[in-house]
Amino acid sequence: MLRIAVVGSGPSGVYTAEALAHQDAVPDVAVDVLDRLPCPYGLVRYGVAPDHEKIKSLQGNLRRVLEDPRIRFLGNVAVGGALGPDALRSLYHAVVYCVGAATDRRLGVPGEDLPGSDSATRFVSWYSAHPDEPPDEFALRARSAVVIGVGNVAVDVARILARGGEELRRTDVPDAALRALRESRVTDVHMVGRRGPSQAKFTTKELRELGALPDAEVLVRPDELALDPAYADPSGLPAVARRNVAVLRDWAQRGASGRERRIHLRFFLRPVEVLGGGEPGRPGVTAVRFERTEPDGQGGVAGTGRFEDIEAQLVLRSVGYRGVPLPGLPFDTRRGIVPNDEGRVLRDGRPSPGEYVAGWIKRGPTGVIGTNRPCAKQTAAALVADTALLRARDLPGDPLDGLRVLGAEPVEWSGWEAIEAAEAELGRSLDRTTVKIADWAGLLTAARPGP
Ligand SMILES: Cc1cc2nc3c(=O)[nH]c(=O)nc-3n(C[C@H](O)[C@H](O)[C@H](O)COP(=O)(O)OP(=O)(O)OC[C@H]3O[C@@H](n4cnc5c(N)ncnc54)[C@H](O)[C@@H]3O)c2cc1C
Ligand SMILES: NC(=O)c1ccc[n+]([C@@H]2O[C@H](COP(=O)([O-])OP(=O)(O)OC[C@H]3O[C@@H](n4cnc5c(N)ncnc54)[C@H](OP(=O)(O)O)[C@@H]3O)[C@@H](O)[C@H]2O)c1
Repeated sequence: MLRIAVVGSGPSGVYTAEALAHQDAVPDVAVDVLDRLPCPYGLVRYGVAPDHEKIKSLQGNLRRVLEDPRIRFLGNVAVGGALGPDALRSLYHAVVYCVGAATDRRLGVPGEDLPGSDSATRFVSWYSAHPDEPPDEFALRARSAVVIGVGNVAVDVARILARGGEELRRTDVPDAALRALRESRVTDVHMVGRRGPSQAKFTTKELRELGALPDAEVLVRPDELALDPAYADPSGLPAVARRNVAVLRDWAQRGASGRERRIHLRFFLRPVEVLGGGEPGRPGVTAVRFERTEPDGQGGVAGTGRFEDIEAQLVLRSVGYRGVPLPGLPFDTRRGIVPNDEGRVLRDGRPSPGEYVAGWIKRGPTGVIGTNRPCAKQTAAALVADTALLRARDLPGDPLDGLRVLGAEPVEWSGWEAIEAAEAELGRSLDRTTVKIADWAGLLTAARPGP
């Protein structure tokens, strides 16, 4: 039996487990998928926006993989500390780290830690019911919010802010977040890019969705599109940028229609400071100062020395995610990944037998769910090719016993099913569909119902 631990049950972990279970070269494979959370699916459960039901339903596909008899889900197992890479290697022939990119990138500007200024990562975790995020973290008393960055995560948070809470009632948004979103006073959301519209990272389907919100309208300034030389003749642009520019051009030509909420899409503004003030004893964000930029002719931008302040009582920086080092594993601090060669972890530049990576911790924090599948297949193929070397080591019996000896209290698949049942019941009691449980105690109690 080749015993493998996959650390992380997001898309890359599940696709790695699937590729290992479904290959023919090594018949006897047992894969444990460990996750620090009691719930599987990583960012598909705790990142994909609640109003994207179709993408959320991918959880069904991931579920089928985790129900394969060769694969065992063990939640509530945080790798690190006593359960670090050395300990795992003593229990398994091989370990594949699929731990994602858990934290946010920072802006590095004064004021970014003022009350009211936060990361989109935390805001997403909050409305996704991640148990590390307090359920009442965001009160949404702001009238004006600034979202810094123009990637798909920025689009998600801008859209959630601009949707009325009522529209999210039929989703699995936790109850406290739904209440805050219903009572939200936000009327204006400014989503701001430091470069031009043709360089925005969002995709066209996600962009268009902003224009289809029932109670919000999108406002684009024609002069900010005109600043982009690629806007004049978009024919040479990549297809996605061409489509984005066409949508933005269309919106720029429309006038305001007087809806309840507005999403202002802004470009060529680089954040230089988050400004604070507010009442004595209650300091908070009041605005973000931006420097107007202009194209430098090489895909970047240069400052112009002209500044603009956008009023905001809530600032969410959405400038990308970042991998977190796992003690005992090498880490490339510049790229925020574990150094690797096609998935084989490199220690001092050489492949380390039995240690692998897949997903965002292997490639960096870009790519959609599907991108992780070929990435995971590549890693699984490297592991399978190394099998003879890996199998040479004798291991003690069932690794689950070893995990318990090391202090872990795993939530097994039946525990996860009990959480699902409790969330369905919570939904019924609130006259909603399934509603997520948003705290550790609630999840662990649900996973281990008493006698
Ligand atoms: C906010 C947001 C929304 C997104 N929306 C979409 C979308 O709508 N459509 C789309 O196609 N893509 C979307 N993506 C991209 C997609 O989610 C990623 O490509 C994908 O989740 C990356 O997979 P991963 O397995 O590498 O990481 P993750 O999904 O982050 O999974 C990592 C897992 O590792 C676990 N873990 C971390 N550390 C440890 C540890 N020490 N011990 C044990 N377990 C650990 C975590 O709990 C987590 O479950 C979105 C991304 C974000 C950030
Ligand atoms: N629906 C979906 O399919 C979906 C939803 C969410 C996420 N995702 C995927 O998940 C991945 C991560 O998304 P993301 O939005 O976090 O990252 P992203 O796509 O890399 O976008 C990051 C944005 O932040 C900007 N930025 C970076 N540093 C900045 C700074 N110092 N000041 C101002 N702006 C800065 C970037 O601008 P520059 O370009 O100028 O650097 C860019 O606009 C992406 O691959 C995304 O497609 C997909």
